[in-house]
Amino acid sequence: MKIDLIAGARPNFVKIAAIIHAIENDKNKIDYRLIHTGQHYDEILSGSFFEDLNLPPPDINLNCGSGSQAEQTAKIMIAYEKALKTSKPDMCLVVGDVNSTFACAITAKKMQVKIAHVEAGIRSGDMNMPEEINRIVTDSISDYFFTTTPQAGLNLKKNGASKNKIHFVGNTMIDTLLRFQDQLKKPKIWDKLKLLKNNYFVITLHRPTNVDETKTLLPILEEISKTSKGLPVIFPVHPRTLKILKKTTLNYNNLHLIEPLGYLEFNYLVKNSKAVLTDSGGITEETTVMNIPCMTLRDSTERPETVNIGTNELLGTNPANIAPAMEKLFKEEWEKGEIPELWDGNAGKRIVEILNSL
Ligand code: UD1
Repeated sequence: MKIDLIAGARPNFVKIAAIIHAIENDKNKIDYRLIHTGQHYDEILSGSFFEDLNLPPPDINLNCGSGSQAEQTAKIMIAYEKALKTSKPDMCLVVGDVNSTFACAITAKKMQVKIAHVEAGIRSGDMNMPEEINRIVTDSISDYFFTTTPQAGLNLKKNGASKNKIHFVGNTMIDTLLRFQDQLKKPKIWDKLKLLKNNYFVITLHRPTNVDETKTLLPILEEISKTSKGLPVIFPVHPRTLKILKKTTLNYNNLHLIEPLGYLEFNYLVKNSKAVLTDSGGITEETTVMNIPCMTLRDSTERPETVNIGTNELLGTNPANIAPAMEKLFKEEWEKGEIPELWDGNAGKRIVEILNSL
């Protein structure tokens, strides 16, 4: 069987690394092409992940780059269709929910290529997020579903997916985290600020609803800075967020803006932090496994298990909700989490076993 493995943006590289690792360790060695759509193209969002995660260079880079939702999707579809015309695989495997995921899934499906979706079936219910639309569209045309939780399987069945196509395999993002946990690297900021374990915060913000306007972004940053009792707050700034921050001057003593970090440095910082505040989905899974308190600055989550089982709390987007959560944290009353079922480092292996059996 020949498979195209699709990766385009930062979280994709982390998930696809687990699958490639499992393929390389398997005696059958599935014949694959790694296709990088080029959605993320900077060294910092793409190149460094290939290095950190020992990913082979892509067999094909579609070099699509940025653009509006439609422009980016269209560029990826046109470029991937050309690649498929040159050589058509038996299956196209997509991961997650970014524009590259659904653009490639639609393109391959229309050329009669089977689609496998890793991280299928998760739903936030928030159709304002492009990722939710990407998930629904991808799942509606997928032939094989690999899920991270039993709930994701239930969501798929509710939408008519047949039971024998749904495989609960665990979480590829966690495979990668567990595989690299002994290789995490201290970032430069650690020594520069003389950071101490359990004595600083990490924040990440990149959702359009939080960051695209200063009137929403600044009150969040101000509230975090005010309620963190003077502890350092480290903020690796996503390029999308930087564009907005450049239009303003920030003056919060304990808030430290840095460039986005590579995978090994970022997770070192998270693993040793007091807590993380984020609007990412993947990070809530990683903090759950590292048992680090996590405050999610969104109104919904497609990953309810990080709240019900893990260390995550959904605070919403109103900055007023940050102070009570911080108080609870400083009183040492944050709930301890557990690790969701099958988040054990073997999801990639299970996926490869199933692919071999098809
Ligand atoms: C994308 C995903 C999001 C994921 C995030 C991880 C979609 C709809 N969104 O959001 O789900 O959580 O990646 O980071 O697919 N840019 C650069 N350098 C790059 C790439 C992008 O500077 O290498 C800038 C561009 O100006 C671009 C902006 O960042 O306009 C946003 O990039 P884009 O890929 O469109 O979406 P993200 O916000 O990164």
